Amino acid sequence: MSDIEQAPPGVDITVPSPARMYDYFLGGKDNFEVDRTAADKVVANMPEAQDAAWANRGFLQRSVGWLARHGIRQFIDVGAGLPTMNNTHDAAQAVAPDARVLYADNDPMVRVHAEKLLAGSSGTAFMTADFRDPEGLLAHEVTRETIDFTKPVGLLLVALVHFVPDEEDPWGLLQRYLSRLAPGSYVALSAGTGDRQSDRAVGTLTSVYSKSSASVHLRTRAEVERFFTGLEIVPPWKGAAAKVCYIGEWGAEDPDAADSDGSRWAYCAVARKPE
Ligand SMILES: C[S@@+](CC[C@H](N)C(=O)[O-])C[C@H]1O[C@@H](n2cnc3c(N)ncnc32)[C@H](O)[C@@H]1O
Repeated sequence: MSDIEQAPPGVDITVPSPARMYDYFLGGKDNFEVDRTAADKVVANMPEAQDAAWANRGFLQRSVGWLARHGIRQFIDVGAGLPTMNNTHDAAQAVAPDARVLYADNDPMVRVHAEKLLAGSSGTAFMTADFRDPEGLLAHEVTRETIDFTKPVGLLLVALVHFVPDEEDPWGLLQRYLSRLAPGSYVALSAGTGDRQSDRAVGTLTSVYSKSSASVHLRTRAEVERFFTGLEIVPPWKGAAAKVCYIGEWGAEDPDAADSDGSRWAYCAVARKPE
């Protein structure tokens, strides 16, 4: 079957999509030729691209497990993507079988995938929504059915905010979400950085994504730290100071060993909204 025959209604297969490219980096099947060609161009100058995607998945899974072990029973996962295995509800429900997860993404392919993936799973819901519309996303009927705003929430913005340019103020958008969440809620956030990368790799990554459905905006450590203003950052591993770190390091038993080349493409932290 050709890509055109396989493409679900509403899915544009003439322009690469970050969700489908990410799926390709992770070895998934929910991608098309246009995505694979774009992703291969990234890999040509960033051979650790797949490692970066896996390091980011590791951060998501470890942070969700940590949040569930610290009493969080409801999660809002914005920019949830397409991964087929070990998703947020798997990590949360492995600790707390009653945990609920609301997935949201603005890519139509993610909805198609989510409908298959979540069929028959309990405590999960999916909605097509855009991170840049906090009030719309939080007031949506599906959100109100899934999330109890009187109780703490785990807000997951994992490998998402680098798709939002400075002009759209991703820092202010996060504050608008946090203003609606109960004290004791947490945010887990990872964001791409070019801090320790070559100009060539950064140039290729940004150029390839500029031709996709969402451009990439890499940020410095200080710019990522700014997301956690007013929040209490959790120490990322046993014995560490409370700080932003690389994605491979978070929750690692041996952070030095986990700090791979791919890990250094994104910073992350988990932080709590104070009482
Ligand atoms: C790199 S994937 C990350 C997936 C998952 N969060 C993870 O870390 O494994 C980024 C996802 O963010 C979604 N995305 C990008 N911009 C978005 C926006 N403005 N609103 C909602 N989702 C968005 C993309 O469609 C894609 O699925």
